[in-house]
Amino acid sequence: MNPVIIESIDHEGRGIAHADGKVIFIEGALTGERVTYSSYRKKNNYEQAKVEQILKQSFMRVQPKCPVFGVCGGCSMQHLEPRAQVAIKQRVLEDNLQRIGKVKPEVVLPPIYGQAWAYRQRARLSVRHVLKKNKTLVGFREQNGKYVADMQHCEILTPKIAGLLPLLGELNEKFTARDILPQIEVAVGEHVDVLVLRILAALTPSDEALIREFADTHHVQFWTQTKGPETVVPFYPLDAPQLSYSLPEFAITMPFAPTEFTQVNSDMNRLMVSRAMRLLKPQTDECIADFFCGLGNFTLPIARSGAQVLGIEGSDALVKRARQNAEYNGLDKNSLSLRGRGGVGVEYRAMNLFEMDETALAKLGHFDKWLVDPPRDGAIELMRSITPEIAPQRIVYVSCSPSTLARDAEVLVHAKGYTLKAAGVMNMFPQTSHVESIALFELNR
Ligand SMILES: C[S@@+](CC[C@H](N)C(=O)[O-])C[C@H]1O[C@@H](n2cnc3c(N)ncnc32)[C@H](O)[C@@H]1O
Repeated sequence: MNPVIIESIDHEGRGIAHADGKVIFIEGALTGERVTYSSYRKKNNYEQAKVEQILKQSFMRVQPKCPVFGVCGGCSMQHLEPRAQVAIKQRVLEDNLQRIGKVKPEVVLPPIYGQAWAYRQRARLSVRHVLKKNKTLVGFREQNGKYVADMQHCEILTPKIAGLLPLLGELNEKFTARDILPQIEVAVGEHVDVLVLRILAALTPSDEALIREFADTHHVQFWTQTKGPETVVPFYPLDAPQLSYSLPEFAITMPFAPTEFTQVNSDMNRLMVSRAMRLLKPQTDECIADFFCGLGNFTLPIARSGAQVLGIEGSDALVKRARQNAEYNGLDKNSLSLRGRGGVGVEYRAMNLFEMDETALAKLGHFDKWLVDPPRDGAIELMRSITPEIAPQRIVYVSCSPSTLARDAEVLVHAKGYTLKAAGVMNMFPQTSHVESIALFELNR
């Protein structure tokens, strides 16, 4: 294959070049590099390829730390200097806003950085006994999605969990049957590391003894899950501290269960909540709605400011957890700490926000400000349901998908009378192509 020059890089970290009238997406190639490549998928107007030889190297290229980089599906940007990763994510955000949303932020916020490695506190690891290798692999799936990557370590998981990967494989080898454990879910808290074993058949007494021994040796707590989420229960030790994370700036501690949604990177989460609060600027006399509130990650910091806040969330379990956490932090509506401050604290409601319409939104009433933090699908139904009567003055939108943020921004700016005041990225997932961002919308007066 003739060498090509990489013109830009796409949102998954692939180099983009043109050859023979086609676009070539080349994994492992960076902007400005001259490379040869081999295509593994050829279509009429594009090809997908892997880099073969780098003839001229980019100054942004770094040596990937991980020996399975390029095979493992966990990261796709390790060959790129971390600050360049953030610059690419910033460009992805701006491109999406412009192309899909036809909007441009008045201010581009400086990106928020965290540590580039060993940040990941949540993960779903696959487990598979591989006959040919005569061992059990525990780790992320390969890029092809079919196989489990053969990883002895992981640079983005917290070091303790990363070090346990081969040992968990050995544990599975010792079980009576090696095919009853397809998945281990990881949740790292401030005082405990939890591993949830997805179990397809009953454990034998000797399996159980092995798990207890592993927990004692490596200071982790095991939970088991036999069927749906309601079957997730602690297994051993039963007297371990509860999983939790904290937001010291707001004097908040958040207990959670290992399969409940929390942000994967708690250091970045603190910075993100802090930035969201600075953009939202909650005031004591305000009423604020926190849509897609989860366990109250933004709701409670808003309430700490003295504003009244309604958190709305689709999962009943998370609403229950959110209510408990409001009480735990003295921020529920009966809390003594709020009496005399004008606020009535926090309330939560379970609601499917993908089914939002004007009538349902009107019933919730008018709020001064909104915080919106949807899953990847975005919040189009919510945005479309805004009428002049209930339109909040300010919306802070936290997004894990620039394309749905851009789509929703288009509605806010071109149909609902808002201005996109500011937008920026937060490097919640270094080494991967995931783009977490935040945007501030203000209603035009
Ligand atoms: C990105 S998370 C944000 C959670 C929370 N704001 C936080 O920072 O931890 C998105 C949340 O949306 C919730 N969710 C997903 N689909 C939903 C729906 N159709 N209606 C309401 N909430 C939904 C999820 O349960 C999850 O808690």
